[in-house]
Amino acid sequence: MESTLVLIKPDAVKRRLVGEIIKRIEAKNLMIRAIRLMRMSSELADKHYAEHVSKPFYPELKAFMTGGPLVAMAVTGPDAVALMRKMMGATKPADATPGTIRGDYALVVTENLVHGSDSPESAERELALWFEDSDYVE
Ligand code: RTP
Ligand code: MG
Repeated sequence: MESTLVLIKPDAVKRRLVGEIIKRIEAKNLMIRAIRLMRMSSELADKHYAEHVSKPFYPELKAFMTGGPLVAMAVTGPDAVALMRKMMGATKPADATPGTIRGDYALVVTENLVHGSDSPESAERELALWFEDSDYVE
């Protein structure tokens, strides 16, 4: 069993795609162990995206991610990290295969609807930033 951090990004909340994205996660029989509707603070953005803070696209990414409510989830199952990345599709919507979340619904790179941890190590680091032990339900 493995857990990954999934964020349903502010564009997806605005576009009322929360149910559609959760539907796909549940249809795959992955399990949601923790979930919260919240806003990403400036401090959390800098920690979560530590690898990107010095990149040219970071100001736009940060403004977007902190600009409205998002849904944070801990998603658990065998190979949950890789499975979620596959279901999300490529970062750039033009590269995302139809049938994936980004392939079906995203048009531009910043507003790409969903985040999933990119490795088990990233998942562990990110889940510790977003959730406390008491947020998880068995
Ligand atoms: P995420 O972390 O959000 O799940 O996305 P990812 O792994 O597929 O992509 P990553 O390389 O980690 O980039 C994080 C987010 O930054 C935005 N981005 N913009 N303008 C650009 O060239 C550019 N590159 C990345 C995207 O919104 C991406 O999801
Ligand atoms: Mg990433």
